[in-house]
Amino acid sequence: MAVTDPSRDPGVPRHVAIVMDGNGRWARKRLMPRGMGHKAGVDALVRVVQACADRHIDYLTVFAFSSENWKRPEEEVSGLMSLLIVALSKHLTKLRSDGVRIRVVGDLSTVSDKVREALLDAQTKTAHNDRLVLTVAFNYGGRWDIVQAAQRALAANLKPEMLDEATLSRFMAMSYAPDPDLFIRTGGEVRLSNFLLWQSAYAELVFTDCLWPDFDERELDKALADYAQRERRFGDVGASGDESGGPSDAGVA
Ligand code: IPE
Ligand code: IPE
Ligand code: MG
Repeated sequence: MAVTDPSRDPGVPRHVAIVMDGNGRWARKRLMPRGMGHKAGVDALVRVVQACADRHIDYLTVFAFSSENWKRPEEEVSGLMSLLIVALSKHLTKLRSDGVRIRVVGDLSTVSDKVREALLDAQTKTAHNDRLVLTVAFNYGGRWDIVQAAQRALAANLKPEMLDEATLSRFMAMSYAPDPDLFIRTGGEVRLSNFLLWQSAYAELVFTDCLWPDFDERELDKALADYAQRERRFGDVGASGDESGGPSDAGVA
């Protein structure tokens, strides 16, 4: 799982992060309450977890509840909390036997005991699995993550001159995983909405109009095909950077 395999196809992302957006609009289109969209969203997630495992993706990270989602009507928030508990109890056995390891990132200090226990129980019960790491971002925000990392670094008595990017990374909530290679957002909005801000510095971004409950293997494969076409340069000139055939223009003022 976490060990880099030299035979890995570089066209397949090791880590996929998804903003699962569009549940409410999916329900509205069907004249259903928003909660039905969230319920259908769980079914989409179950499909996508299986599809990612089948495609040898090592890490799938999904945005399930943002630190800003508390602004929603109380009824929707409590519906989402109940759905999380129901979904975990319904799907945990299968996820366990499929080799999925569940990890949770986010501020669990402000969620109810029941929700926290359900999340931590899923994490414990799947801790031995290594086929796919499914990280559920719950009450998560990218800015929260950076602040909590800084707080923990300070609490560890790190001197300012010792703090660099690699060191702070070790305090980030997803320090156990490589940075996301592919960042997908469904639902048509073209924004990050405070998801994995630090970790996605060099992720390839794919935005699709597909509403999350409609997302399936075909939609995933479209995003993966898009990713496979990208040239990742990480600030370098890349493979085609010196193909002009003419004299080098390096250093031209
Ligand atoms: C994403 O779907 C699910 C959560 C934020 C929990 P939305 O509920 O945001 O769906 P839209 O954007 O209103 O369609
Ligand atoms: C992002 O979607 C959060 C999750 C998918 C959990 P939102 O629907 O909350 O994002 P905004 O409000 O449109 O930016
Ligand atoms: Mg939304």
